[in-house]
Amino acid sequence: MADNDNVQSGKNFGVGTPQKTEGYFLKGLTHLDWGMKDRLSRIFNQQSGKSVMLAFDHGYIMGPTSGLERIDLTIVPLIGYADCIMCTRGILRSVVPPTFNKPVSLRYSAGSTVLTDLNDECVMDIEEAVRLNASLLAVMVAVGDPKHEGQTIRNLTQTVDVGTKFGIPTMGVTAVGKELVRDARYLAMSSRVCAENGAHVVKTYYCEKDFEQVTNSVPVPIVIAGGKKLPEKEALEMAYRAINEGAAGVDMGRNIFQANNPIAMIQAVRDVVHHGSKPEEAFKKWISES
Ligand code: 5RP
Repeated sequence: MADNDNVQSGKNFGVGTPQKTEGYFLKGLTHLDWGMKDRLSRIFNQQSGKSVMLAFDHGYIMGPTSGLERIDLTIVPLIGYADCIMCTRGILRSVVPPTFNKPVSLRYSAGSTVLTDLNDECVMDIEEAVRLNASLLAVMVAVGDPKHEGQTIRNLTQTVDVGTKFGIPTMGVTAVGKELVRDARYLAMSSRVCAENGAHVVKTYYCEKDFEQVTNSVPVPIVIAGGKKLPEKEALEMAYRAINEGAAGVDMGRNIFQANNPIAMIQAVRDVVHHGSKPEEAFKKWISES
């Protein structure tokens, strides 16, 4: 117990030095509470303002897809290079060593698989996310899906409500239905719907034409999914263009873990995202000789 004899009066009040009022380095998130900002600051690098998230949650809809058959062998060696990992609770508990101490973007919504009808989802229990020390709750949002749009937006709304209670931010993940076109108009619409409903981060796809309209019309950070496997150079080009057109990072899976040399690829992606390296340079440095 503190000794209450000899309590000295304070002397150094810094009179004349106004207390600094810090801003926040991520777009649209200045007014969040401390816990939210602390979690987001673990995901996004404060110098670059960007993040390289490694996504390997695909199994929840696809099962053991190529590159994810043995996550302990293929993904665990990559985790050290990522700023954040995106996965399901099942893989987190069974395979990811907690000693990595990486922020987790937890797959928080789940339901149907590729074998039936995608996007028919519910959300998890927040206590489980707290137990797993999640830094971000990732929820699929299927704007324009005639059957599941409403339910997935309700899932997002519920997640933002409960996540806010516990200081855990939410990421809206824009789903793309088979019949929906991945153009700037649609991606801006679905990403904006996520932000309007309270998502603190939005994950969407890159589009070659007018992607700046997507990033400019969404008031919070956008990260892009990698999408289907591309040749390494093309995937780096896509990341480069997305960052230059306003994305705050990538949440990339197949283009990293299905690459010929995934460790080289994730380092090349880091150079592009955090240091603005040209894709050609990053490719030469990491990929061509690997
Ligand atoms: C699945 C996801 C994936 O995490 C996402 O698609 C990222 O992976 P990839 O870069 O392979 O597209 O959100 O719903």
